Amino acid sequence: MNNIPRLNVIVLISGEGTNLQTLIDAERAGKINTRIQAVFSDRPKVPGIKRANRANIPSHCLAHSDFPNRATYELELASHIDSYEPGLIVLAGFMKVLGAGFVNHFRGQIINIHPSLLPRYRGLDTHRRVLEAGEEKHGATVHFVTEELDGGPRIIQYRIPIKAKESEAELAQRIHEGEYIILPQAVAWLANQRLALEGNDVILDNQKLGSPILIEGKHERSP
Ligand code: GAR
Repeated sequence: MNNIPRLNVIVLISGEGTNLQTLIDAERAGKINTRIQAVFSDRPKVPGIKRANRANIPSHCLAHSDFPNRATYELELASHIDSYEPGLIVLAGFMKVLGAGFVNHFRGQIINIHPSLLPRYRGLDTHRRVLEAGEEKHGATVHFVTEELDGGPRIIQYRIPIKAKESEAELAQRIHEGEYIILPQAVAWLANQRLALEGNDVILDNQKLGSPILIEGKHERSP
């Protein structure tokens, strides 16, 4: 490959972990120059934990409810993550909002995948809200995480036209397929030292990105 050492990565999840699986598969196939060191979940016994176990990746569950408040939870989570000395933290379906202390501690080293074309449709239930609004297009975004919820500088987006009468489940599935393209891509750029956050600017190949890289999905809008 190249002489760049493998990037140590921690992945945070809350559920299925299909994006985590994509990263594991890409790493094992030599497509991303990473070493996924550990997986953290805020919920016990979720399928994503089993995926980590199957891949022999250490997994930890830190539930918010086991701590008196958010600050102590995040301090513990940060210190546990720090013990791995990672170069990158990937929020891959991690559904807890992380506060300023945590986010600023890892600034420039945390990315998130969000199921919408940010800055549109921050927050939860994006597929349902997009369909209810009668949007023509939907997508997913990988962005650096900052204090602003789902508001950090965007790196790459996947966009598809919504089909006529498309169900929420089908749309969610098609968005997931795009996520499996853009998340490994962003991680690959970081692992190859091609991507960085400088201030609020995304730098790719020494150039400031004016707007996120856009990948258009193959599916045509049906009549
Ligand atoms: C993904 O669609 C991801 O974009 C979303 O959760 C899903 C996790 O799926 N993340 C958020 O909504 C974060 N606000 P997965 O567990 O199968 O990877």
